[in-house]
Amino acid sequence: MGKNFIVGQSGGPTAVINASLAGVAAAALAHIRSTGSGTVYGMQHGIQGFARGEVVDLGAQLDTEAAIALLKTTPAAALGSCRRRLPAAADEPQVYEDIFRRLQQLDIGCFLYIGGNDSMDTIQKLHDWGAAHGSDIRFVGVPKTIDNDLAMTDHTPGYGSAARYIATVMKELLCDSLVYDEKRVTVVEIMGRNAGWLAGAAALAADEECAGPDLLYLPETPFDVEDFVRRVDALQQKRKSVVVAISEGIRLDDGRYVCELSNTSASVDVFGHRQLSGAASTLSAILNSRLGAKCRAVELSTMQRCAAHLAAGADVEEAFAAGAAGVKAALAGESGCMVTLVRSSTDPYVCECATADIHAIANAEKTVPLAWIDTENATVTKEFLDYARPLILGENAVVWANGIPKHFVVK
Ligand code: F6P
Repeated sequence: MGKNFIVGQSGGPTAVINASLAGVAAAALAHIRSTGSGTVYGMQHGIQGFARGEVVDLGAQLDTEAAIALLKTTPAAALGSCRRRLPAAADEPQVYEDIFRRLQQLDIGCFLYIGGNDSMDTIQKLHDWGAAHGSDIRFVGVPKTIDNDLAMTDHTPGYGSAARYIATVMKELLCDSLVYDEKRVTVVEIMGRNAGWLAGAAALAADEECAGPDLLYLPETPFDVEDFVRRVDALQQKRKSVVVAISEGIRLDDGRYVCELSNTSASVDVFGHRQLSGAASTLSAILNSRLGAKCRAVELSTMQRCAAHLAAGADVEEAFAAGAAGVKAALAGESGCMVTLVRSSTDPYVCECATADIHAIANAEKTVPLAWIDTENATVTKEFLDYARPLILGENAVVWANGIPKHFVVK
């Protein structure tokens, strides 16, 4: 087996994807120190950059505890990311021959890829090719995605921090929405694609001082525009300010995304995912023209996935642990798998790392159980809140200088 490690990041970033990178690097460097040889390479912009030979010696840059600690609290993907689908091996075998030649040249024994369901497709394909061609390189996926839509894991690193940001900002927006003695509607758009895990987190804003959003819509159930207008109208008879939280991926009964009603020319990525954006402004415009209401659309956009200053401590530590668990699994001989988080108790919260077969994970999408969505009251159930609450707890040990956070930059 090769003596070196290689790690890449792929898909949409999160506030803690670099904590997983730090976890991979720390565990791999500990192994390298104990064996006396090897390094940790980082591929820049995932498999896309790797195929162009873009590789850095990450081990040399992360050889102090301070560097690891700073990377752990740095948002976005320090190595750069990509949305790249490998072709089927039967269609373009030369792509795989080229990748495996490069891996051999670098004397790679363990290949770690930090990503979501689309990125796990890369691990699956490389593992399958390697297994069919007698390679002993171990391919292990490390989960990440704010969308929390990966199968076989209780939740994904990245979700808790984004959920915490959403709950916090929602509570602050609800506070702000009450200041004027006039009617207004605020529609807040939350990421998550076809899964409502993130949008549901808006309900975590509720506590003894705050009622939470008035209406909350997830993409798992069809969105009825007429019913929505009626509900907002009815609420406005009772109170001045109405605050609505919606998922970017809410769809009409006919399958069209709500954002498509006003934005018909959005880009589509290689996985066939349409860029989802604009549902809140679409609904604001509808409310304005139908009810004459003063409306404001707030799109949380990329802020919800890069807010490391508000990352959940539990999430940071789990992301780090998942990275280290990926290295441990690879060194133990596992390949074609992804690290999973297994919750054994919610109160007290107890969660451990395990692994699961990549073939049950790649390209699959885990959505919110319908039983956790209260469509009658346009909200989520207690089960949802009990599931999500422990994931947003704890503080992130951000390093501050001159009033702003310090970040680790890969050279
Ligand atoms: O997959 C994570 C995610 O943040 C989704 O919630 C969102 O729809 C998408 O990525 C946006 O991706 P991009 O930044 O590539 O447009």
